[in-house]
Amino acid sequence: MSLNILEITYLIASLTFVIGLKMLSHPESARKGNLIAAVGMLIAVIATITIYQPFDSSKAINYGLIALGLVVGTVIGTMMAKKVKMTAMPQMVSFFNGMGGACAALIAVIEYQNHTIGVGSGFDGELLVMLLGLIIGSVSFSGSMIAYGKLEGKIKDRVLPMNQLINMLMLAIILGLTVYKMLGYGDSMVFYGLLVIALIYGILFVMPIGGADMPVVISLLNSFTGVAAAFGGFLYGNKAMLTGGILVGSAGTILTILMCNAMNRSLTNVLLGAFGGNKAGGAKGEAGDQTVREISISDTAVLLSYSQNVVIVPGYGLAVAQAQHICHELEKLLEEKGVNVNYAIHPVAGRMPGHMNVLLAEADVPYERLQEMEEINPKMGNTDVVVVIGANDVVNPAAKNDPTSPIHGMPILEVDQAKNVIILKRGMSAGYAGIENELFFYPKTRMLFGDAKDSLQKLTSEVKEV
Ligand code: TAP
Repeated sequence: MSLNILEITYLIASLTFVIGLKMLSHPESARKGNLIAAVGMLIAVIATITIYQPFDSSKAINYGLIALGLVVGTVIGTMMAKKVKMTAMPQMVSFFNGMGGACAALIAVIEYQNHTIGVGSGFDGELLVMLLGLIIGSVSFSGSMIAYGKLEGKIKDRVLPMNQLINMLMLAIILGLTVYKMLGYGDSMVFYGLLVIALIYGILFVMPIGGADMPVVISLLNSFTGVAAAFGGFLYGNKAMLTGGILVGSAGTILTILMCNAMNRSLTNVLLGAFGGNKAGGAKGEAGDQTVREISISDTAVLLSYSQNVVIVPGYGLAVAQAQHICHELEKLLEEKGVNVNYAIHPVAGRMPGHMNVLLAEADVPYERLQEMEEINPKMGNTDVVVVIGANDVVNPAAKNDPTSPIHGMPILEVDQAKNVIILKRGMSAGYAGIENELFFYPKTRMLFGDAKDSLQKLTSEVKEV
């Protein structure tokens, strides 16, 4: 009877995960979706603690230790999530993901101690599940910690001599030892050896990848954690853990592919090719003209106030400046003056998936004002002014015009089709891809230099006076 109740709660939990995930795909429902899935997880945890009976009934459940773990984890997790800055979200996700990987690996370590095997005793599916959980969980843990360190600026990008060769060798050793162990050979040393090698492999796998490519890597490691957790679910026959793991695994994989597509790069290129830093691609203006034209706050205010259609392009700099609230303020002011204002959202603007959506939602910008790249690009020609706020690569025409550019082929917001372009940024620094932007030198482009928040504050005051 109790087993049935447990199965039913797992089914309910699994359903909440699916519903929650679906709701996460739209900013309007994302918060609720997150909450629904969290409640499902809570139900699964409570049901497991209160109903689940271990196979070995001689082993008492240590409720005190479980409660301690729950309290410590909840307190630390809540504090971190409350304190984290929007721009530091990717590293927090990476840290949490690493913890998931570590849990999956620890499950394998604990269960291995209760496991008996021998040469020639037939195929041991349980051992295989343990080994896979151990290896994938360990890679995910150490890799995520390196990704976290890189995003925090604590670890520099470093390519060891023959890094790829060493990585391939380590993979071969991991594979060889797994087969060896599955054939029933070797003692516990082989198992723990695999743990150590997988941890080192995780470090060497992420180490050479460019810091700015970390969001893609984190998403990939996230899918690893999901798969490792699913193996844990197999081991315990825990359906909620299994479904949760599979969902994380597949969602992480899909997100990785989507991000690569939006940057027009293959996953292999992200994992093996260093990107960003010092490449100088197509920096020349339309006619080789390198002149940068500036615009004043008051001229910008007049231009915007007398426009019919304005498009705002938010980018990473908007997040850095935390200028989303004042940006919404300006948009409302312009709307009051009869200007039609929309936001153009590039899929990889910022540094994490949905970065701009989250940022603008935080400032209560109505969702219907947010338009995806495919939707807004055809309307650019009809736009009087495009205001680019802290975006760079996602509006770089070199992606279309310059086959030698590292971002060539990446779909961009075609702001150069608009009648006027105003760029808000602090100086002439490059963005993530480390390349100059020819748009800044176009005759129709005007630069409004300064911190985005500062410039928008001044601009808002000025628009009020027009
Ligand atoms: P970026 O190309 O990175 O450019 C951001 C610009 O913001 C910089 O050129 C910088 O110039 C400016 N900036 C920084 N702080 C500012 C401030 N306080 N005020 C005003 N401007 C400021 O940003 P993007 O256009 O959003 O493109 C995103 C890039 O990240 C793409 O190349 C994309 O492929 C990559 N990427 C994104 C993701 C996801 S999932 N979003 C994942 C991996 C990689 P100044 O220093 O001169 O001000």
